[in-house]
Amino acid sequence: MTDVADRATAGFQREYGAAPAGRWAAPGRVNLIGEHTDYNDGFVLPFALPLRTVAAADRQDGQRWTVWSELSGETITFDADDVAEPGRVTGWGAYVAGVVWALRDAGHAVPGARLAIASDVPLGAGLSSSAALEAAVLTALVDLGGLDLPAARQPRLAQRAENAYVGAPTGIMDQSAAIRCRDGHALFLDCRTEEVEHIPFDLHAAGLAMLVVDSRAPHRHADGEYAARRKSCEAAADRLGVTALRDVGVDQLDSALARLDDDETRRRVRHVVTEDQRVLDTVVLLRAGRVGEIGPLLTASHASMRDDFEITVPEIDTAVEAALAAGALGARMTGGGFGGCVLALVEADAADAVAEAVTAAYAERGFQTPAHVTVLPAPGATRLN
Ligand code: GLA
Repeated sequence: MTDVADRATAGFQREYGAAPAGRWAAPGRVNLIGEHTDYNDGFVLPFALPLRTVAAADRQDGQRWTVWSELSGETITFDADDVAEPGRVTGWGAYVAGVVWALRDAGHAVPGARLAIASDVPLGAGLSSSAALEAAVLTALVDLGGLDLPAARQPRLAQRAENAYVGAPTGIMDQSAAIRCRDGHALFLDCRTEEVEHIPFDLHAAGLAMLVVDSRAPHRHADGEYAARRKSCEAAADRLGVTALRDVGVDQLDSALARLDDDETRRRVRHVVTEDQRVLDTVVLLRAGRVGEIGPLLTASHASMRDDFEITVPEIDTAVEAALAAGALGARMTGGGFGGCVLALVEADAADAVAEAVTAAYAERGFQTPAHVTVLPAPGATRLN
């Protein structure tokens, strides 16, 4: 297939009969560790994928936005009335209109624009195609309009587009990854303060590889279950008298659990509190260059998601078990859950064998054949030449 930036440029040329003023790219992500901790004000450690969404764009007069997407093949147009309040633009266009709405709502003078979107980030695989789209459009509009919105403040705005315009109650991880990640690094993000540290993550130097397996599991009730997990965490924080579960340290976990009266809530809290600690422990190992030693933390994170947070599905658990049995140093589901992808940290020369073992385990259980790829940490959103 042609390069994604070329496809966006060609689409722009064909739709609008002119060359774009520029092209802006934003990546999908995987999360190395720290799941469902972001909306609990906790810690996450995602890295950007080499798969990107590209917006080719230029300004147009007036408050009008025209957007072509290669995925649907349609062109949509909306104006200032449509972005006066959330809800008027629906479908994929809502992610674009949501960004325009959030920028205007924050007082920015958003320029009218024409955009053409192409993407290599697969939809529905839990790799944050929606955040990649938001980030590509946001960086394009910020640059075209010369808006005063530094990168560090952009994720909150893109998250607002998703929460308030699209209506998905996600945290800030995906937008932060799409915008703030650096090549060769994982992004250690404190979701309360939005402070970041770029942690070197040199798989190659360590003789390792990161295998990403798309479980191909259909997203079952993902939206409703995500919202339910978030609610139950917020209710637990309330009952414990803290702002967010981030405020409960592992050393306080037992006493916190003793103050909760139902077992399900106790397990939800235990996941979040121990997961925050696993992120911190992973960061300590990576800072010391001990990449190969993070495996057990990844696997423990998976067990916690499976048993305590209850967000895995049989395809996902099968992929993790098969990868570990075939020699992976650690493996876990990545992303919101109920489908999506599994990460397996493997010796570089074992990647194929581990992938084959997962495929064989799938065949045995009659699941749809999974897709897999090895990845290295890539850069966040950027303007292309
Ligand atoms: C989804 C959300 C993120 C985060 C993860 C789970 O990807 O968009 O904000 O909550 O799930 O860690």
